[in-house]
Amino acid sequence: MRYFGNNIKLFVNNLVVSYTDQGSDNAPVIIFIHGFPLNKTMWNNQVEALKGRYRVIAYDIRGHGESDAGNDDLSIELFAADLIQFMDMLKIEKASLCGLSMGGYIALNAIEHHPERFEALVLSDTNCQADSEEGKEKRMKSIHSILKNGVSNYADESVKNLFTHESFSTHEEEITSVKKMICNTSEESICCTLLALSARKETCNRLSGIDVPVLILVGEEDKITPPEVSTLMREKIKDSTMYVIPHAAHLSNLEQPEEYNEQLMRFFAKVYKTPQILDSEGSNSVFVQMREKIMMLLSINTI
Ligand code: MLT
Repeated sequence: MRYFGNNIKLFVNNLVVSYTDQGSDNAPVIIFIHGFPLNKTMWNNQVEALKGRYRVIAYDIRGHGESDAGNDDLSIELFAADLIQFMDMLKIEKASLCGLSMGGYIALNAIEHHPERFEALVLSDTNCQADSEEGKEKRMKSIHSILKNGVSNYADESVKNLFTHESFSTHEEEITSVKKMICNTSEESICCTLLALSARKETCNRLSGIDVPVLILVGEEDKITPPEVSTLMREKIKDSTMYVIPHAAHLSNLEQPEEYNEQLMRFFAKVYKTPQILDSEGSNSVFVQMREKIMMLLSINTI
């Protein structure tokens, strides 16, 4: 039996995993994987925009959001194994993935080891390269600073790199919400995930083996995973397209949700050969309204 809703709990690999599951039963499945150290709610806007056409799932990676942390050493491999187990538990044989940054690392690992489970990928503000020595040192410095000054201080520092300068006056709500997501993640989870990120293996050499359509999205001002890195991935993946989102930094889905959603809708309409109905602002609200009207008429007829 399938549960619909926003904070569903499921046992996966002996852990409680919290997830959102929206959209109709028989629609193609799109699974959203959040960035570090955030949670599934970063995808709220995308879930709303796509649920009229697709079954849309966003889950909390272990140690993040409402999911348990468990006692295992964290790694991208473990996160990817959790994802496969999560799909198994939900009896989802095949899905598309949309992963942002750490979510993209997990998506790349998952498709490398289980190519038969995936139909398409969206790699957003992410990277196929491993951390450089300098990057690893930075992670260690972050761990020391978190242990000394706490998570709240880390959150204040992090958002400076996650959003464009402009957004500090135009997207205050989103910035506050991201700070909250970081502050709601335990010190232990943040530090252990930083170690997992710094130990991750490169996946650039395997990109040419990806056999499904891929959309690469990146904020034009993303300094953490800059557009040049996306270009490199674009060159290596056969069936890939890339779109640079203007006026966005690392969290491009939160800074420019309309543009981001429009790119997702266009891409998945092509992948699944579903008609794409957009209004003049690029959102699918016309389609959603039409669908709601039809559902209402159908329910009246069946009474
Ligand atoms: C993320 O947004 O997931 C992080 O920036 C990933 C990273 O630090 O490598």
